[in-house]
Amino acid sequence: MDTNDKCARTRLVMYAVAASLVFAAAAAVAKVEPTYVGTGRCKICHDSDNLGNQYRIWALSPHAKAVQVLAGERGRAVAQKLGIDNAQESLACLRCHTTGGGANEKTRAEGVGCEACHGPGSVYNDFSNHATMGSGERPYQKAVYRKAISLGMKPVLGPDAVKAREKLCTHCHAIDRPCAPEDSELRKRQQLPLQVIADIPFSHPVRR
Ligand code: HEC
Ligand code: HEC
Ligand code: HEC
Ligand code: HEC
Repeated sequence: MDTNDKCARTRLVMYAVAASLVFAAAAAVAKVEPTYVGTGRCKICHDSDNLGNQYRIWALSPHAKAVQVLAGERGRAVAQKLGIDNAQESLACLRCHTTGGGANEKTRAEGVGCEACHGPGSVYNDFSNHATMGSGERPYQKAVYRKAISLGMKPVLGPDAVKAREKLCTHCHAIDRPCAPEDSELRKRQQLPLQVIADIPFSHPVRR
């Protein structure tokens, strides 16, 4: 083999390495950032008896009315104090009163929807990306749940996730929110106790 040949080969290898780096970069760019799709998408499957009716349970919960409540008497009073004309249009309120903080047109009016707690679902909502049945394992024990987490689902399921759940809930159930009652006793009572967070009320806990 002469030096020219060797050079050509080295160059080829370098091209191959460069090409694979370009491919890797392209793949990283192509990796879709999950976005919010709205509770209507989750409803398609999660409104049935054999999955646990999470949609129906949610629809009857205060979280589903979190945008409506902004237009009520107290909502308008809180907004007025802050010089906000329309609380239902203000990110200062929607930040906690709807999925995705009000930045997403699709979820702007739905209130605190599935994805506010479970994470943006445009990728994991696909059946094969988060759902399998019949193994006898709890959902949070399944490999597909870990896959879903890598695709945007928040890891808030199961008894070991109480800390993560506490962080999730208190992000909105914060003591210094603009709508917190002035009365300090009332304010204290509105702090979610850990027990409530652990059991999530009016709700659809993991079926044990
Ligand atoms: C095509 C049907 C379908 C759609 C759409 C769907 N799911 Fe699911 N989901 C399922 C099934 C089936 C399971 C597994 C239930 C079981 O094992 O009992 C599941 C499980 C889950 C779990 C438990 C954790 C896991 O990974 O198993 C969560 C949380 C969840 N879904 C949230 C959502 C949310 C939020 C949406 C909307 C963004 C959604 N799902 C859309 C069918 C669906
Ligand atoms: C940091 C998150 C957060 C922000 C920002 C926020 N809220 Fe709230 N809001 C909550 C939570 C959590 C509750 C439920 C509290 C409870 O009942 O325990 C709530 C409840 C309410 C309620 C119903 C309960 C009541 O007190 O009558 C109204 C009305 C309300 N908020 C108005 C507003 C308005 C108007 C804004 C914007 C100026 C706003 N909120 C901004 C988190 C927030
Ligand atoms: C306020 C936050 C919150 C909202 C809103 C919410 N979830 Fe959940 N969800 C949770 C938490 C927390 C758990 C885990 C409870 C546990 O581990 O005990 C859970 C559990 C689940 C599970 C697993 C239940 C099982 O039996 O296996 C599914 C499926 C699910 N949610 C779907 C949904 C869907 C669909 C919506 C919207 C219609 C929704 N969730 C809305 C917080 C929420
Ligand atoms: C994206 C913000 C957000 C998150 C995350 C959130 N909540 Fe809420 N929650 C609200 C708002 C806003 C209300 C008031 C809705 C209304 O009055 O209609 C509310 C209402 C409630 C209420 C009813 C309070 C009452 O006085 O009637 C309970 C209980 C509750 N949430 C529990 C939880 C738990 C437990 C979690 C975590 C698993 C959680 N929330 C996560 C925003 C949030």
